[in-house]
Amino acid sequence: MGRLDGKVAIISGAASGMGAVEAKLFAAEGASVVLGDIQDEMGKAVEKEIGKDAAYLRLDVTDETDWVRAVETAVRRFGKLNVLVNNAGTAGRAPFAMLEEQSEEDWDRVMGVNSTGTFLGIKHAVPEMRKAGGGSIINISSVYGLVGSASGAAYPASKGAVRILSKSAAVQYAKEGIRVNSVHPGFIETPQSASLMNDPVARQKLVDRTPIGRIGTSEDIAYGVLFLASDESSYITGAELVLDGGITAE
Ligand code: NAI
Repeated sequence: MGRLDGKVAIISGAASGMGAVEAKLFAAEGASVVLGDIQDEMGKAVEKEIGKDAAYLRLDVTDETDWVRAVETAVRRFGKLNVLVNNAGTAGRAPFAMLEEQSEEDWDRVMGVNSTGTFLGIKHAVPEMRKAGGGSIINISSVYGLVGSASGAAYPASKGAVRILSKSAAVQYAKEGIRVNSVHPGFIETPQSASLMNDPVARQKLVDRTPIGRIGTSEDIAYGVLFLASDESSYITGAELVLDGGITAE
């Protein structure tokens, strides 16, 4: 018995990092998964690794027509839609610069992927989840959707938007059995964080800021997302699942 037996999920940003690990875990737990990303070759490689229970398609989360196609693909290939993980994200071109050094263009790009992308995903998943009698939407925010950041502007703002957007959607669709929660990872080793993690001094600083005393893995996050996707979390909506090794507890 898998924890997601019979469920159909869309995961955005599933070609790499946490999204790819979540896709493999979901499939191992019995789900069929639609993988969306803009890195086609890597996305197809994840699809191949999973096998018949996966379908990759190009999904630029800032493009509403791509979302329409992604939801259609879930229904055409696997018959319905039960779970959406809004995981695609970007830190932008200058994540460690101060606010006044960030360009408006970069602000718009980061807000577009992280915030608008999440809005569009919810918007197009809800009608299909309604037909399925309910569903679970998991929006990947960050610890920087909970507390201020010492650098950057768009990234923490975009992740803060994801947090309250999740609660608003949770309230609006609770009566229809559609649950919406946000997930707040701490410092996790993935391609997005590689430039920081590969610098031993910077890496140690992150470890020192984490009470648990280590950098997180994609698996640490994927198991939390799996719980929220499954019926084990059926009384949880509008909540924040903080997976940060204790960073924000301090
Ligand atoms: P990653 O860079 O390995 O994966 C992100 C994926 O999103 C990539 O495959 C990328 O191609 C895709 N993507 C980017 N723009 C897209 C677009 N417009 N449309 C569709 N896909 C797009 O990064 P990681 O670390 O796995 O990030 C996953 C999520 O977790 C992101 O939302 C990120 O902001 C968030 N996060 C990451 C943390 C970390 O320490 N790595 C900490 C907290 C949150």
